[in-house]
Amino acid sequence: MLSKKTIDIVKSTVPALKDHGLEITTTFYKIMFENNPEVKPLFNMDNQKSGSQPKALAMTILAAAQNIDNLESLLPAVKKIGEVHVNSKVKPEHYPIVGKNLLLAIKEVLGDAATDEVLNAWGEAYEVIAKIFIDVEEDIYNQK
Ligand code: HEM
Repeated sequence: MLSKKTIDIVKSTVPALKDHGLEITTTFYKIMFENNPEVKPLFNMDNQKSGSQPKALAMTILAAAQNIDNLESLLPAVKKIGEVHVNSKVKPEHYPIVGKNLLLAIKEVLGDAATDEVLNAWGEAYEVIAKIFIDVEEDIYNQK
């Protein structure tokens, strides 16, 4: 369970994320592919070039932040993305890689606004969101 304070911090960063959403995710992919080249083969690089995947991820993060105290409302979207993830062979062990590099990207793009408090709140929120994806994807893998 996230504390009210964490929820408030995450929600209060939504406007800044809206301003920088695409920049954060574009930076995120660049950093992640440098730090963790082992995940690169999972991704379709045509999507990276067209910018469609970075944009989808940015929008999903904003939707999650806006609904952080009502995460059940995300489930229909998570199930659809989960199908894409399973088809791309995304596994639970990949989630901490995305989380770490996403926080690094938020830090780089927000600069001074990315205080330890903000980054810690996002780290906690990401874990909760990642757990929902991992559980949904486990069900999809088991049904195959
Ligand atoms: C909570 C964390 C995550 C969110 C919110 C997220 C979100 C998304 C979204 C919105 C899409 C587009 C789905 C579509 O095309 O309809 C997507 C696709 C994809 N995601 Fe994720 N994702 C997350 C975690 C991960 C992780 C951990 C990996 C593996 C390192 C990953 C790898 C992919 C891949 C390979 C695709 C297919 C698109 C492509 O090939 O470029 N995602 N994700």
